[in-house]
Amino acid sequence: MQDFSAMHGALLRWYDLQGRELPWRVRPKDRARGMSPNPYKIWLSEIMSQQTTLAHATPYWERFTAEFPTVIDLANCERETVLSMWAGLGYYARARNLHKCAVTVRDEYQGIFPVDEASLLKLPGIGPYTAATIAAICGDQPTNIVDGNVERVISRIFTYEDPLPKGKKGLRNLAATLVKDERPGDYGQALMDLGATICTVKNPKCDTCPWTQWCKSHCEGTQTNYPKKEKKAPLPIRYGYAYILRSGGNFLVERRSDKGLLGGMLGLPTSEWGDKSIDHRAAPIARNWQKLGQVKHIFTHFDLRLDVFFADVEAENLSHLDQNSLIWTQDASALPTVFRKAVRLAMSER
Ligand code: ADE
Repeated sequence: MQDFSAMHGALLRWYDLQGRELPWRVRPKDRARGMSPNPYKIWLSEIMSQQTTLAHATPYWERFTAEFPTVIDLANCERETVLSMWAGLGYYARARNLHKCAVTVRDEYQGIFPVDEASLLKLPGIGPYTAATIAAICGDQPTNIVDGNVERVISRIFTYEDPLPKGKKGLRNLAATLVKDERPGDYGQALMDLGATICTVKNPKCDTCPWTQWCKSHCEGTQTNYPKKEKKAPLPIRYGYAYILRSGGNFLVERRSDKGLLGGMLGLPTSEWGDKSIDHRAAPIARNWQKLGQVKHIFTHFDLRLDVFFADVEAENLSHLDQNSLIWTQDASALPTVFRKAVRLAMSER
């Protein structure tokens, strides 16, 4: 029989000693010295760390908070700057919403980031997880924080049988039974840390887990059977062509339309992406294109195989093109990862 109060206390004691040091996190010892979490910086960290690891997101967070110390600074900058700085973090609708959200907080909340769950949920790009997390960490509200790590922990504790994603709601309800009023922000972060560092997908470190004595799956030795998941259909494969047109030391990029994949980002000129029969006559100019190879990239809904073509062009051969719509750059760092891979291929070839 699980004693939720004892579990709550054991997790917080573990967190006080073993919780991770993160640059945006105010640890209990820091709070005792009068520090408090900054809702703008917590929001940035939460949006950036969705769908990726904290190790990957942290340098982005460092750059954003150095460049934009306040939400007003972020709101006042050009959206293109945000998109360029976001390149490599993926899920680019988040970057567009990030800027929109900063503008809303500047214009409708006098630049003061709200910390109550209901107001947070109304902001662009903030869903139930992010609202619950900011409200708990910054507003001391006993919200129910459930991310992928928490789902794993809770499903193992209770040997929750319903496969995800259908079973998500039931799992959330179970997670809610453990939430208490005491230190809600620390509790939520402790639970996420536990999932990230102890209750890992493979080889969970049950010897050092503060919850083993209450964990049903540990008792049965079935930890890694949870969470149960519905079988996923394999991703369809799409094919496409990308073109690297070099002139001097620069290569040609274009601003992609706001709608659709990688919307608003800079990208290489490409053909459409589709099945094997796609028309590859999409090159930006007629040229003797040299095929460099193929890059692979997995998107949420499909698996892309992009054939990469290369050509050099002298400036005088471009004079018939509309110069205003051409963007030349030397810098691949503002490109989404799939295009960086293509540019890397070109660099390694020459
Ligand atoms: N993953 C994303 N946000 C987190 C947080 N605040 N604490 C622990 N892990 C996290």
